[in-house]
Amino acid sequence: SLQQHVPKGLKSPPGPRGYPILGNVLELRKDPHLALTRLSQKYGDIMEIRIGTRPVLVLSGLETIRQALVKQGEDFMGRPDLYSFRHITDGQSLAFSPDSGEVWKARRKLAQNALKTFATTPSPTSSSTCLLEEHVSKEAEYLVAKFLQLMNEVKSFDPYRYVVVSVANVICAICFGKRYDHNNQELLNIVNVTEQFNDVAVSGNPADFIPVLQYFPSRAMTLFKDFNKRFIHFLQKIVKEHYETFDKNNIRDITDSLIEQCMEKKVEANGATQIPKEKIVNLVNDLFGAGFDTVTTALSWSLMYLVTYPHIQKKIQEELDKTIGQERRPRLSDRGMLPYTEAFILEMFRHSSFVPFTIPHSMIRDTVLNGYHIPKDRCVFVNQWQVNHDEKLWKDPLTFKPERFLNAEGTEVNKVDGEKVLLFGLGKRRCIGEHIARWQIFLFLSTLLQQLEFSVCDGKKVDMTPTYGLAMKHKRCEHFQVKQRFPMKSMN
Ligand code: HEM
Repeated sequence: SLQQHVPKGLKSPPGPRGYPILGNVLELRKDPHLALTRLSQKYGDIMEIRIGTRPVLVLSGLETIRQALVKQGEDFMGRPDLYSFRHITDGQSLAFSPDSGEVWKARRKLAQNALKTFATTPSPTSSSTCLLEEHVSKEAEYLVAKFLQLMNEVKSFDPYRYVVVSVANVICAICFGKRYDHNNQELLNIVNVTEQFNDVAVSGNPADFIPVLQYFPSRAMTLFKDFNKRFIHFLQKIVKEHYETFDKNNIRDITDSLIEQCMEKKVEANGATQIPKEKIVNLVNDLFGAGFDTVTTALSWSLMYLVTYPHIQKKIQEELDKTIGQERRPRLSDRGMLPYTEAFILEMFRHSSFVPFTIPHSMIRDTVLNGYHIPKDRCVFVNQWQVNHDEKLWKDPLTFKPERFLNAEGTEVNKVDGEKVLLFGLGKRRCIGEHIARWQIFLFLSTLLQQLEFSVCDGKKVDMTPTYGLAMKHKRCEHFQVKQRFPMKSMN
């Protein structure tokens, strides 16, 4: 990277000096979100670090990030061409590939429409409000039964293993019209090892920035490539089955609807560039991939907080009892009437900040941000963890306290405070599954907590230390227990 020409009157962002050749890579080694938060306190919301010899812009502070990703969104919407990203969906991923032009835009719209049609439009066949509600209700009910069965048989268990299959089944139903058994080895081989993906596809992976590292054998990189191969193979098989049984008069799921788009209409990006066929159907890779691990991680963190703060769990259950009772199950339409539950979810998002950085961005063109010159192609990290723990925005940011989002009477969530929590990105690259994710987390949690009380075995403590990654995980815990809350009452 040569010295950039900085136009007159402008300056380059400040930042730590770093070592020759390595840059700041040693400072980022363990917990980059914490290291970069500390550095931002010294250098400010707009700083430049170096990973190897490559400069990287690091953004912190909610107002600065809004200015960049929303107000100057067109400038900041690119994705860097990173070594590890080339292995995701054969380099064709909507989320990770460097494309941010007309083809990306048209694909993003297709994916958004597909999600809308197969998740949130009213269900034609059941009494549920929408397909998402139908699938989540069914899977959550299955989880309740499974947890009670495990209690009978083995007295304690690791909930993650079961939650991940249930969440995967929801997105599988939407994408593939398919449900998997909790013991399906092929599915488990993918959903249970997402750390093989998360460890590498993360902001600040040295091999992405120091090319010579790509020539050293790395166990993480081998696992990552294998994971992506297995993942593509798994999905290709399902897509093939769909092609073989495709019937244009019976569009069963997102895969069918994408196949239909390929066959019938010519899906055109602006300027009449057609989207290549294979870039339509493989959108299910992005939807499935982004859809299960994040929501599973959110639910798993939720369970960890619930057993760590039993009085908070009790308050959610009191709210559920008061508002819904025991005569019926929670529904999506109850969400607005359960402010404490909503506040808990927001606080879980904020406190865990389990997606500490967005996917890296890259500059489409030269721009000026708050007086600093930012050149075209500069790679950009957006520190969501910093925003969610910023003392300028939050009182006692390290304390877990759902009440911080409620008004004094506890009857309403403060909308402005809720929107200060940054976990889904902002602007042109903002997560397209955000609404679906929030609805799912709400309905899974409320259904589980209406019926079950979660705890850990006497004398056991859960370890909430996150492991850095694209989505940060806690250590698995095998000591979960549940108690049925209303054992006398049988429900239909
Ligand atoms: C992108 C977070 C669930 C689909 C993103 C980004 C974040 C994020 C931080 C990157 C934003 C950026 O680069 O600025 C989350 C979280 C979730 C979640 C925290 C759950 C709690 C989902 C679900 C789906 C989904 C359920 C789909 C079913 C996507 C896609 C992108 C994306 C396709 C790429 C968008 C693009 O690059 O244009 N998400 N997500 N996400 N998400 Fe999500």
